[in-house]
Amino acid sequence: MAIPTGHWENKQAMLKFHLVTWANRADYQRQLESYFRIRYQIYVEERGWRQIDRPIPVEMDAFDNEDAIYLLGLDENGAVGGGSRLVPSLKPHLLSEVFPMLSSEEIPRGEAIYEWTRIFVAPRFRALGASSPAAGAVLCGLLEACLHLRIEQMSVVCETFWLKRLRGLGWPVEQLGPEMEHADGDILALLIQVDREALDSTRKAYGLSKASLLA
Ligand code: COA
Repeated sequence: MAIPTGHWENKQAMLKFHLVTWANRADYQRQLESYFRIRYQIYVEERGWRQIDRPIPVEMDAFDNEDAIYLLGLDENGAVGGGSRLVPSLKPHLLSEVFPMLSSEEIPRGEAIYEWTRIFVAPRFRALGASSPAAGAVLCGLLEACLHLRIEQMSVVCETFWLKRLRGLGWPVEQLGPEMEHADGDILALLIQVDREALDSTRKAYGLSKASLLA
């Protein structure tokens, strides 16, 4: 399936969202290099996830391959300010290869199911004591990207607090199995239903207008 790309703009958060795939990666060489370095700064240096440390300051795993789809939020200078990754569930992904024990039943797989990983917002876009508009923009951008790509469900391996947070935003979320103690924080697996209502309620929660438009 050819993956349609596109970009969105969210003026409040000053981020413009781009979908980067294997097909258009040449147009984003500079941003992709910086993206993987930012992932290292955030996940290894800031979060202290030692298991994904590497000899050079670039964070890349087995799922950063030709099937990965990146949502990159670029600021007005074209610098990466936030992002997320989607991996097709029909291919090897974190839940199937590393954490299958987090799903009590068969791992959800299908054409319209993707695994969501690596959400982040660069520290300069974060807010103190409250979730930042940039995080809201990334979450909205993610839902918009899924709707655009006809992705109906997202599986995710995440820290336990996300269940309450996503439900609080109006996302239909099902827990797939038991929680697990993990050196980097307790985790669980979720299956998220992608729908327009979740997008609307997330925009509302963050006070974002309907400006996340396909350019
Ligand atoms: N209710 C009350 N407070 C909330 C809240 C809520 N629903 N959501 C967040 N907050 C608070 C947090 O406690 C935090 O307070 P503090 O500044 O006093 O510590 C502050 O708001 C910021 O929350 P945070 O979740 O860090 O920010 P965010 O919602 O803007 O961004 C991420 C969320 C995940 C994008 C951002 O934290 C990030 O990039 N983290 C690094 C990458 C990461 O760990 N990603 C997740 C795993 S892949």
